[in-house]
Amino acid sequence: MRLDKLIANAGLASRSEISKAVRGGRVTVNGAVAKTPALQVDPECDAVVYCGKSVCYREHIYIMLNKPEDYVSATEDKNAPVVTDLLLPADGARVHPCGRLDKYTLGMMILTDDGEMSHRLLAPARHVPKSYRYRCELPLSEGDEKRLCEGVHIEGGYLTKPCEINAESEFEGVITIHEGKYHQIKQMFGAVGNKITYLERISFGPLPLDPSLGRGEWRYLTADEIALLAEAAK
Ligand code: URA
Repeated sequence: MRLDKLIANAGLASRSEISKAVRGGRVTVNGAVAKTPALQVDPECDAVVYCGKSVCYREHIYIMLNKPEDYVSATEDKNAPVVTDLLLPADGARVHPCGRLDKYTLGMMILTDDGEMSHRLLAPARHVPKSYRYRCELPLSEGDEKRLCEGVHIEGGYLTKPCEINAESEFEGVITIHEGKYHQIKQMFGAVGNKITYLERISFGPLPLDPSLGRGEWRYLTADEIALLAEAAK
């Protein structure tokens, strides 16, 4: 594995910060100063020290992605690009999306190879909150907002669980749901005779979308963020 990947994977810094640290002689491998971030290291046996911190290899990787439009939340699709195409090929081949966003929905996605964690974060019983910035076609009345918050019937007669809406105007706001049915928010607005025209996930559980990530950009989660996710998955 490349040295910079090992350090980034441990959530200690971005690739560009690591390159700078290597150029500045602040990274050692088995006690010798590393000359290039592309150096091949064995995560199981080589002792890597980054700016005085020893780097532990992580069994799993956790990635935050700012999903652009037109990408499918999957690892493969016959007709459209998939979110894992946006990652480094080695990571893309390893991780899966933790939950789905529709092709036209933007924003926060977590991708990981930790199947157990994904499963727990998505389990309906855990009610992990997900917040979305929405825009709708028609003005959303206070009555409709109340109906959405209390629960509406969607596909298959399912009654949605209580959710919260923080309306900023009749046409836009933030909605937080605690479950994840297929096209849930679009279906909910449809149930009150309205239509979603824009949808962007802005947080997943305890983690807000990092505002420094442009559309299509991603980064590894930090150790603190992984701990917060693990807590939410308990
Ligand atoms: N609800 C939707 O309708 N679409 C999404 O992508 C996520 C939630």
